[in-house]
Amino acid sequence: MAELKVVDHPLVQHKLTLMRRRHTSSADFRRLVREVALLLAYEITRDLPLETIRIETPLEPMDASILAGKKLCLVSILRAGNGLLDGMLDLIPSARVGHIGLYRDPKTLAAVEYFYKVPEDIGERPAVVVDPMLATANSAIAAVARLKRDRPLEIKLACLLAAPEGIRRFHEAHPDVPIVTAAVDRCLNDHGYIMPGLGDAGDRIYGTR
Ligand code: PRP
Ligand code: URA
Repeated sequence: MAELKVVDHPLVQHKLTLMRRRHTSSADFRRLVREVALLLAYEITRDLPLETIRIETPLEPMDASILAGKKLCLVSILRAGNGLLDGMLDLIPSARVGHIGLYRDPKTLAAVEYFYKVPEDIGERPAVVVDPMLATANSAIAAVARLKRDRPLEIKLACLLAAPEGIRRFHEAHPDVPIVTAAVDRCLNDHGYIMPGLGDAGDRIYGTR
């Protein structure tokens, strides 16, 4: 219970450093999020169940492994989650996709929901909620609570950066949901930003500020 996996692969850490830099352009930032997402997806799908099927290679028949059951559902927390989503879909193109629209109220930092759409058969699929930033965890806690009402087979949370405060709060609210992240930073500042962090992920992906 209350699992935390930090993906400390050198390629992930290198790309994350490039993303953190103040002067990295939106185009580069977007490309890097996508590349890191692909590497996170590799880690997050490590325990997907396999089954054996009979196939024919050009030389002979064989029993070979293939993913079992219904395909994974990636659930993106809008907006910034879409940056991670694109990279994960590069690796898992047949995944289904859900969206949860949430923004942080700038004063209270509470998560405000404005959109929710997931596949009708989510109850037969494992789900991975994706959002680059786990800061206060208000957004991730609300997103997972909403998703749980539709009862996916299991839920994991994938992010790029997490604050210790956010991890603690998320695990208190959802001890059954493992977190996979590329890094755990020092703390939150007074405005709920992750320090040292990388700034506002949505703004950096989409160049809105
Ligand atoms: C950012 C980020 C997370 C949230 C994390 O979204 O993408 O969803 O903040 O903060 P929390 O853990 O304190 O809730 P934001 O509200 O800025 O919306 P955006 O993705 O539309 O920019
Ligand atoms: N959301 C972001 O985009 N960045 C932070 O540091 C915290 C919340």
